[in-house]
Amino acid sequence: MKTEIARIGNNALENEKILAHAAEIIKSGGLVAFPTETVYGLGANAVDSYAAEKIYSAKGRPSNNPLIIHIASALDVDKYACVNDKYALLAEAFMPGPVTAILKKRDNIPMSVTGGLDSVAVRVPSHPIAHRLIELSGVPIAAPSANTSGRPSPTCATHVIEDLDGKIDMIIDGGQVEIGLESTIVKLDGEYPTLLRPGGVTLEQLGALFGEVKVDKAVTQKLSEGERPLAPGMMYRHYAPKSPLELFDGSDEDFFEFITSIKDKEKIAVIAYDEDIQTLIKAGVGRDNILSLGNSEDIKSHAARLFSLLRECDKHDFEKIYSRLPSREGISLALYNRIIKAAGYRVIS
Ligand code: TXA
Ligand code: MG
Repeated sequence: MKTEIARIGNNALENEKILAHAAEIIKSGGLVAFPTETVYGLGANAVDSYAAEKIYSAKGRPSNNPLIIHIASALDVDKYACVNDKYALLAEAFMPGPVTAILKKRDNIPMSVTGGLDSVAVRVPSHPIAHRLIELSGVPIAAPSANTSGRPSPTCATHVIEDLDGKIDMIIDGGQVEIGLESTIVKLDGEYPTLLRPGGVTLEQLGALFGEVKVDKAVTQKLSEGERPLAPGMMYRHYAPKSPLELFDGSDEDFFEFITSIKDKEKIAVIAYDEDIQTLIKAGVGRDNILSLGNSEDIKSHAARLFSLLRECDKHDFEKIYSRLPSREGISLALYNRIIKAAGYRVIS
């Protein structure tokens, strides 16, 4: 299949034409990758079971891993899911934005979209391209991240092209995304709101909104044999680069000492911050083996760059990749969750 790639530029009329064309593809059962404020999504008509099923084969995704449906307005949710007071609170505070609500589903959402569950994940993206595409399509858009299953989520169109060129109808190139980690997922169909995946809306913000918020174990810990995460997708070995990644839990001094003690430094990569570059070079690490998440204080930049750096690692043949273990505060919890999974929970202390 030939994949059409269309770039969104400064010409509003041209952009509208591109999105109208993409909406036609969605309406006729095709697959379109598009930018959102979190990561790029791979969209299909969510009320067309056949179209949604195509997503699974393009990504190589297990069929029991449900999809998020994307709608244009938080008020539209009633058509597809059972609304409750907690949803109203969440929507008022954070929608449109980087948050997904799990609610009891209505019958018009096919089981192929929810992986056989009786709940459905709903999100209202704030990105203008995503928003307009949903509006023009006139249907809810089921969209997982637009990567091959198991690879890091795409934060720019080049990543989508790497994984899905030739497998989908169209890619809308809207440049770099803003957040760079997938949305916060909150389960709202039970007694307590439960965080299933941390993201741009933080646990602290949810706590302030709801009072008590439970956190699914899979957010911070490796599950034991037989245990299941509440979000089926959290079960899979996600984001892992080809070379093993190990995380260091300790002071900066200990981290640099540890790196200095490594013998074959040309065979390793170090994921660090701008301010570390000189120290690491002095420790004997080559400049090309240092990948920076940005300024150490700029957590937003760390989130925005992580997936791109993990993809970068795959272009080289490193024996090992080292990084520090992030904090669990604020948006850093999302970073912690993604990187510890990418590292297969290997932590050196
Ligand atoms: O930011 C995002 O959420 C991006 C953009 C494209 O919107 N989408 C995204 O989708 O990250 P995906 O498919 O890569 O991740 C969706 C996660 C999976 O872990 C899946 O198991 C979980 O949401 N999920 C979907 N429906 C669910 C449900 N009914 N109950 C529990 N978890 C669900
Ligand atoms: Mg994904």
